[in-house]
Amino acid sequence: MNVCIVGTGYVGLVTAACLSEMGNHVRCVDVSQEVVDTLRAGRIHIFEPGLDELVRRNSAEGRLMFTTSLAEGLAGAEFAFICVGTPSGSDGVCDLCYVDAVAEQIGRAMSAPLIVVNKSTVPVGTADRVRAILGRELAARKAGIEFDVVSNPEFLKEGDAVKDFMKPTASSWAPRTPRARRCSRPCTRPLPAAARSSSSWACAARR
Ligand SMILES: NC(=O)c1ccc[n+]([C@@H]2O[C@H](COP(=O)([O-])OP(=O)(O)OC[C@H]3O[C@@H](n4cnc5c(N)ncnc54)[C@H](O)[C@@H]3O)[C@@H](O)[C@H]2O)c1
Repeated sequence: MNVCIVGTGYVGLVTAACLSEMGNHVRCVDVSQEVVDTLRAGRIHIFEPGLDELVRRNSAEGRLMFTTSLAEGLAGAEFAFICVGTPSGSDGVCDLCYVDAVAEQIGRAMSAPLIVVNKSTVPVGTADRVRAILGRELAARKAGIEFDVVSNPEFLKEGDAVKDFMKPTASSWAPRTPRARRCSRPCTRPLPAAARSSSSWACAARR
């Protein structure tokens, strides 16, 4: 599968490296030129055991690349993972401005059917919010491009993130449409059966 990761911080880089290790072709987009330059140079800007080796090997073998251009990242992508920060304010409410901005940018840049996967930590209802933003941006362009939004919150622990991703004890992948569920299978198939069976397949229940 061809995958675009938007936000190459902790969660985005682990997701990108592990999906490329599973054989997917992954393009990572980050607004920070410094982050992209560091990763292109084969250096890792976060500490996580085993991650540098995965990034180096998959970059060298052409399955992993880094860019600041969302259009370049989305070229040929079937999936776009939103992995940007959602900082909590003093009231404990998480700020969705980065998620909203990425949804807007994807809506303006996408040129082919796409499954948008939200990996950031967000409140219930955010998939509908992202869906509305994408729909609004596509309508503004009069672009009738199909898309789906899937919630796939990340549970990895810093220090064990690669292991947690590759051998999860639980994961949640909540596609809303049969198409999103069908298309997602190749992306999740390499995960162990135990993790797949504990996924929340909300598709059938909602339609
Ligand atoms: N770090 C963890 O251990 C962890 C674990 C589980 C869940 N989460 C959740 O995952 C999400 C991401 O967390 P993180 O720690 O990876 O964040 P992070 O701050 O390390 O990385 C976010 C990245 O997104 C980039 N970015 C921001 N806006 C962008 C845009 N418009 N386009 C492209 N790139 C953009 C930033 O430059 C940064 O590199 C958060 O919601 C967090 O709560 C984090």
